[in-house]
Amino acid sequence: MSVRTGWYRNAVIYQIYPLSFMDSNNDGIGDIPGIISKLDYIKDLGATAIWFSPLYPSPWEDYGYDVADYRGIHPAFGTMEDFEQLVAECHARGLRVIMDAVFNHTSDKHEWFRAALADKDSKYRDYYIFREGRRDKEGELIPPTNWTSSFTGPAWERVPGTDEYYLHLFAPGQPDLNWENPEVRAEMADILRFWMDKGVDGFRFDVFNLFSKTYPLRDDKRPAAFQKGTNYYVDGPRMHEFLKELNENALSLYDSFTVGESYIPDEEHAHRYIMEESGELDMIFDFEHLTSDNLFGLKMIPKPFRLRQFKRGLLGPQIRYHGTGWNALVLENHDVARSVSRFGINTKKFRYEAATFLAMVTFLGWGTPFIYQGEEIGMTNTRFKNLEQMKDPVSRFVFDTMRKLRIPAKAAFAMLRAGARDNARTPMQWDSTVNAGFNTGAAPWQCVNPDYRKINVKRDLESEKSVYRFYQRLLALRMSDEVLLSGDTVEYYPDDRQIIAYSRTLGGRRYLIVGNFSGVRADFIMPGDFELDELSIKFTNLDRTDTEIEEIMQMKPYEALLLEEKRK
Ligand code: GLC
Ligand code: CA
Repeated sequence: MSVRTGWYRNAVIYQIYPLSFMDSNNDGIGDIPGIISKLDYIKDLGATAIWFSPLYPSPWEDYGYDVADYRGIHPAFGTMEDFEQLVAECHARGLRVIMDAVFNHTSDKHEWFRAALADKDSKYRDYYIFREGRRDKEGELIPPTNWTSSFTGPAWERVPGTDEYYLHLFAPGQPDLNWENPEVRAEMADILRFWMDKGVDGFRFDVFNLFSKTYPLRDDKRPAAFQKGTNYYVDGPRMHEFLKELNENALSLYDSFTVGESYIPDEEHAHRYIMEESGELDMIFDFEHLTSDNLFGLKMIPKPFRLRQFKRGLLGPQIRYHGTGWNALVLENHDVARSVSRFGINTKKFRYEAATFLAMVTFLGWGTPFIYQGEEIGMTNTRFKNLEQMKDPVSRFVFDTMRKLRIPAKAAFAMLRAGARDNARTPMQWDSTVNAGFNTGAAPWQCVNPDYRKINVKRDLESEKSVYRFYQRLLALRMSDEVLLSGDTVEYYPDDRQIIAYSRTLGGRRYLIVGNFSGVRADFIMPGDFELDELSIKFTNLDRTDTEIEEIMQMKPYEALLLEEKRK
C-alpha cells in the first residue's frame, strides 16, 4: 500500500527565493525569521505549500544552487532550529514545505569535492567526473570534450598543476556529480530521507534530466550549436532508472511530492518522467512557453514574442499528459524575467491588465499553479543602470559572450537587462519605506527595483486594482471547482495571433477560457461546439459591463473571460 496521497494535485505552491524575501536582522540578506513573519501573507493568498530555493550552506557562487552541505542551513538564513520552527509554523497554517534538491552538481567547496581534489586516490574522486585533457594538433592541452557550459564557455575546468579536468555543466564552481557511482546515488536518497524525517513534504529537483551522461564521453559533432554536448547529457540513458531508484529508497516511503526542473526535455522522455505508472516524478516544469520571446539556453537573447509558441508550450503538456500523470503551471521563477515585463507587453500601460490576464490564462489550466514571490503584486523588471548592479554571475558571463560576438556594449546590455535573472531577484516590495520594507538596515545584497514606491504589497492591497486580491479570488475559485482542478484541456484557434482559448471539461461540465493576448482589441468568434444561450460569464479580470454572450465577442486588450456552460 502506498503512503502517498497525491496532495499536490490540489495544491497551490508559492516559491520563495530566501535571499530576497524578508530580512529580519537588517544585514541585507533575507532570512528564515523574516519568512516566518510573512507566512500569514502567503497563506491568505491561497497558497497551500511553499517551495524554498536553496537554504543550504553555500559559497553563493550561484546563490545556493552550489550546495556545500546538503544537510545544513546557511548561517545567513538562520540555524537548523530556525528551520525546524519554520516547518512547524508552516504546518500549523496548513502549508506544506518543499525543498530544492540540487543533485546534478555540488559546490566546489563541498567536502566531497575538496577531498577529491586533495587526493587523486580518494574515493571522492569518483563522486565527480574527472578526465585527462587531450592534445590538439599543436600539442596544446585541450579539454576532454568540446562541450560548453550552459553558463557559456567550456564545460571543463582544468585542475591546477595537472593535465586533468573536471566537468561542470554550469559554473566552474559547480562540479557535476557522477551518478554512475552507486555511493553518490545512495547519498542522494539519504539526503531526501534526512529532510523528510524533519517533516519536509516534497522536493523540486534542480536540472534533474542532466544526471545521466552518455559514456564514453565524446565530442558533439553538430555544427556550431550554442550548447554543445546536450545530446550526450540531456535525458541520458539511465535517467529513468535513477529516478525510480530514488523513489524506491526514499520518495515512495513518505507522502512525498516531486517536481523536476527539466532542461529542454524530449517530449517522450518528459512524458515518461511524470507518468504515474513510471514511479519517477509527479510533474515537471517544461519551459517552452517561457522561451516564446527569447532563445532557449541563452534566455538573455530576445526574439519577438510568438504567441503560438506560448500557447503550444502552455497547453501542449496539458493535452498530451492528461489522465496519465500531472502537470505544473508556471509563469515566473528566480531564473526568468518578470512576466508583466515581457511577451511584448507595454507594462506602463497594461501592468494590472496583463498581470491578471496572465494569471487567468495560466492558472485556470490543468496542473498545479506555482507562484513566484512578487508575481502576485505584479512586480516588474528593473532598469538596472550597469552590470555592477546585477549580482547574478551569469549576467556577466552572458555579457562577455555577447561582446565576444561583437555585439556593441550598449545593445548587449539592453538585451541582457530584458532577460536577466536579476530581474526576479530584487528584494520583495512590501511597502514604500526605505528598501521597500525588505529591511530597515543595511543595503540589500541586490538593489531594490526603484519602482517600489508605486508597486508594493501595502499599496496593492489598498488599491481598487489589487493584483493580490485578484489572485486570491482566482485561486479560491480554482480550488473550489472539480472541473478546474482536474478537467481535461482542448485548445481552440492555436494559430490565432491575438487570442488564446481553451476549454476544460469534466463529466458533463465544461468551461471555456478566452483571452486577448495583445495590446489592441480583438474579436473572438465562439467555437461551433458551444451554444450561445448555454454560456455565461463566470469570472473576468476587467470590468465587463455587457454580460451578453455574442457570436463574436469583442475583447479589450489583455481581457480574459471564464465562460461557464450550463447545458439545457
Ligand atoms: C537551475 C536553477 C538555476 C541554477 C541552475 C544550476 O536552473 O534554477 O538557478 O543556476 O539550475 O544549478
Ligand atoms: Ca538577514
